[in-house]
Amino acid sequence: MASTIQIAVTHEEQTASLGRFLSEYLKPGFVVALDGNLGAGKTRLTQSISVGLGIPSGQVNSPTFTLSVPHSGRLELLHVDAYRIQSLNEVDELGLDEWVEDGGLLIVEWASKIMPALPPVDLSIKIESPSPSERIFRLSAYSPLGREITARLADWNPPQMI
Ligand SMILES: Nc1ncnc2c1ncn2[C@@H]1O[C@H](COP(=O)(O)OP(=O)(O)OP(=O)(O)O)[C@@H](O)[C@H]1O
Ligand SMILES: [Mg+2]
Repeated sequence: MASTIQIAVTHEEQTASLGRFLSEYLKPGFVVALDGNLGAGKTRLTQSISVGLGIPSGQVNSPTFTLSVPHSGRLELLHVDAYRIQSLNEVDELGLDEWVEDGGLLIVEWASKIMPALPPVDLSIKIESPSPSERIFRLSAYSPLGREITARLADWNPPQMI
């Protein structure tokens, strides 16, 4: 059974803060599955996590023609965007299992499209956007490490916006 926590934010800066908070608890071999409509904030959250990992800001973008892009920070991050993936065979070629076995961090946008081809997911984050600047994050943990993160998130308070 997944343990799920729901977080609502009203500003993009709060999403950035959430990403930096999450980055502190990510460990080698961790798998994050992101889902949500176009423009929900999957890339913005990945960027904020990356900044928290010490990856130069601006490096992480929406990969247009590539399905996966590696980045080096406190952890080796592989950022996958499954939006354009046509078949699960394409995913096999990305070597995701090896990446995770080697201690890399995996963050996958549109993860639900390729779930059968993914290594076991530690944390699933589903993002909804009820208004242009509001976001609802549903974080579900599927491993002890994932549950540690959802437990710590109970203490996370979004920075107040004025
Ligand atoms: N609270 C918020 N959190 C995240 N993004 C926000 C927020 N408010 C506004 N935005 C805007 O929403 C957009 C999110 O875009 P982003 O590229 O991260 O979405 P995405 O889920 O990765 O989309 P895609 O499926 O196209 O990859 C950005 O333009 C960002 O500025
Ligand atoms: Mg994106």
